[in-house]
Amino acid sequence: MNETTGLTETSPIARTVASTQSEMTEIILPNDTNVLGNLLGGRLMHFIDLTGAMAAFRHSRTHVVTAAMDHIDFIRPVRLGDLLTLKSSVNRAFTSSMEVGVKVWAENTRTGGVVHVASAYLVFVAIDEHGRLQRVPQLQPETPDEIRRFADALLRRKHREAEHKRRHEERLITAAQEETKEGES
Ligand SMILES: CC(C)(COP(=O)(O)OP(=O)(O)OC[C@H]1O[C@@H](n2cnc3c(N)ncnc32)[C@H](O)[C@@H]1OP(=O)(O)O)[C@@H](O)C(=O)NCCC(=O)NCCS
Repeated sequence: MNETTGLTETSPIARTVASTQSEMTEIILPNDTNVLGNLLGGRLMHFIDLTGAMAAFRHSRTHVVTAAMDHIDFIRPVRLGDLLTLKSSVNRAFTSSMEVGVKVWAENTRTGGVVHVASAYLVFVAIDEHGRLQRVPQLQPETPDEIRRFADALLRRKHREAEHKRRHEERLITAAQEETKEGES
């Protein structure tokens, strides 16, 4: 293990986006819906998490945990009885983390109409069975779309890091204010 990075050292080869592509199809049953017969947002997030993890597993070939799920757009409701198809692939790999994109479509089983209902970005972190961070292979984007997603993933990472830092500082200020209040009472 590298003492500075905390990473278990391996020399992973680069992998293609195509080798990470994953897909899941679900039929929406009464247990998945609210009283109006629409798919629950939390259930959809669960399906997104699972499909995202499949791509991260295929890229890292080790255990992964979800570090963040951001930028989910719920575009249209999904109805009871619809067939939900989720597709995922890794957009970019960093050191131990990977950004995965998930896109979701719903198919009306009677009309055959298919609509895009949601999209999300997730970050998965590769770990070993002891919870130690693992270095992941780099990603080799090939098509123009893959190259665009690869570039955008770096911008989103920078935005995530800035937001993480801002929230951390906010928590420190709140903790200091609460400590001051306790001292005064
Ligand atoms: C994700 C986790 C392993 C990161 O561990 P950590 O000690 O904070 O690790 P570090 O700060 O060294 O970051 C390690 C990597 O994770 C990324 N990371 C950590 N927190 C992150 C976050 N909130 N959002 C995005 N990426 C994050 C870092 O950018 C870094 O990526 P890199 O190695 O590619 O540069 C740890 O926070 C954890 O176990 N969280 C709980 C995960 C979980 O239970 N998920 C739900 C169930 S699967």
